[in-house]
Amino acid sequence: VDPIEVDASSLTSGTSLVVTWRDKRVVVRHRTEKEGKDGEAVNLADLKDPIARNANLPADAPATDANRAAPGKEAWIVMVQICTHLGCIPVGQEGDAGGWLCPCHGSQYDGAGRIRKGPAPENMAVPVFQFIPNTKIRIG
Ligand code: FES
Repeated sequence: VDPIEVDASSLTSGTSLVVTWRDKRVVVRHRTEKEGKDGEAVNLADLKDPIARNANLPADAPATDANRAAPGKEAWIVMVQICTHLGCIPVGQEGDAGGWLCPCHGSQYDGAGRIRKGPAPENMAVPVFQFIPNTKIRIG
């Protein structure tokens, strides 16, 4: 089905769930306060991929922490959990960057899903999504 609706009401801070959308693995993460603060503190000049890769924003939107999330819902990350190197599934809350670690060739993503180390060229993709209005998320 496309779009899909995800019930995120059970996701407390620091937990995630995974759904399938268009045959892709999509992770919904309710980030901790620390993850959000760490994400905001990142200097954009340090990012390997400076583009948000957020389908809800213009194609050239910068990869700020907020631009990786939805307005007013910055604690939440909704993201295609597929490594932009060769398509493996990065493991959540692993690695030195505070987000996801790809087991195939070691790419490390931060808590906003931005590529920080390793061979992957791009931040993981944020799909079209919206909150409806608070605890459900429509993806697609
Ligand atoms: Fe993820 Fe190569 S597929 S690092």
